[in-house]
Amino acid sequence: MITHTVLGLETSCDETAASVVRLDADGEVTVLSSVIASQIDEHAPFGGVVPEIAARAHVESIDAIAGEAMRQAGVGYQDLTGVAATAGPGLVGGVMVGLSFGKAVSLARGLPLVAVNHLEGHAVSARLGAAVAYPFLLLLVSGGHCQLLEVEGVGACRRLGSTIDDAAGEAFDKIAKAMGLPYPGGPALEKLAEGGEAERFPLPRALLGRETMDFSFSGLKTAAARMADKIDEGDRRDLAASVQEAIARQLAERSDRAMAAYAERYPGERRFVVAGGVAANRHVRARLQAVAEKRGFSFTAPPLAYCTDNAAMIALAGAERLALGIHDGLDAVARPRWPLDQAAALSNPTHAPGRKGAKA
Ligand code: KG4
Ligand code: ZN
Repeated sequence: MITHTVLGLETSCDETAASVVRLDADGEVTVLSSVIASQIDEHAPFGGVVPEIAARAHVESIDAIAGEAMRQAGVGYQDLTGVAATAGPGLVGGVMVGLSFGKAVSLARGLPLVAVNHLEGHAVSARLGAAVAYPFLLLLVSGGHCQLLEVEGVGACRRLGSTIDDAAGEAFDKIAKAMGLPYPGGPALEKLAEGGEAERFPLPRALLGRETMDFSFSGLKTAAARMADKIDEGDRRDLAASVQEAIARQLAERSDRAMAAYAERYPGERRFVVAGGVAANRHVRARLQAVAEKRGFSFTAPPLAYCTDNAAMIALAGAERLALGIHDGLDAVARPRWPLDQAAALSNPTHAPGRKGAKA
């Protein structure tokens, strides 16, 4: 195996990001640069991401962001062994911008292109900070996704459970919005919850009594929004803490069940990884770490900077594929929907499949 040095591009949501990552022959990972231009200010007035605004902002900044990533890494295009771009799932206008830019680099510089699944990027993100061997059990918790997966190797995932309504980050965002907190809601709600009393407000527990590894947050969202309307200013901290605990508890309960199932298949491979924006939440991390310790699993979360969307994870996912001799052609398409476990998504869709195929 040779050393791979890959330019990664991420444009699937509201962050324009570029990064250069090196994957050595012995598997060591070095992030040479990771540049992220957030569009939060442009979307904040609307309380959420506006796809057209996002796509336009990506077009305007991708060139400069990619150039900055190359400059900070101190490498030239002749030093790269490949270019990796998110090809989905995500807002398709934005995905097209990053993927087209990646194709242009590939064509102009004669570099292999890897069309990366954004979720595969999150799946490898913990490896940006620590060595984690395959296979491992993954809890992927972001603004768009909430699922438990057995990750057997590069591109080989088996889904154990998934949300039947909202993603965990979406629940954080929507409840935060109902409480009048700024977008994005997750970090704002975590801040408000500091020192709050988590047992103060009883909130519904989803799918209680069912032996499921699926998630549901819509009941919690409705209950919390209703309470937010009624409480005094002084009680907001306790409500935030109660909401955070309710989400963390559900994630911990399902992960506990998944660890038991996973350990039967891979008894000697007890590794648990949490990734995605919600993995940045300290209370969530602590809850999950406690479950992992109880079950005898190692616990790994990405460095905070690589929990939320970034291009380093896309570059690494690309490098891992290149190391196995896998790459894509210039005919790679942008895919708004692209489940990691295709088979599970088609045979057992937790979301209605929709016109464009299975979501997640
Ligand atoms: O992974 P990500 O950047 O984007 C997606 O691929 O979805 O995740 C963003 C999500 C948002 O819903 C955001 O509110 C949530 O992650 N998030 C958090 C925290 N930081 C980000 N949720 C709770 N606590 C946090 N500290
Ligand atoms: Zn993401």
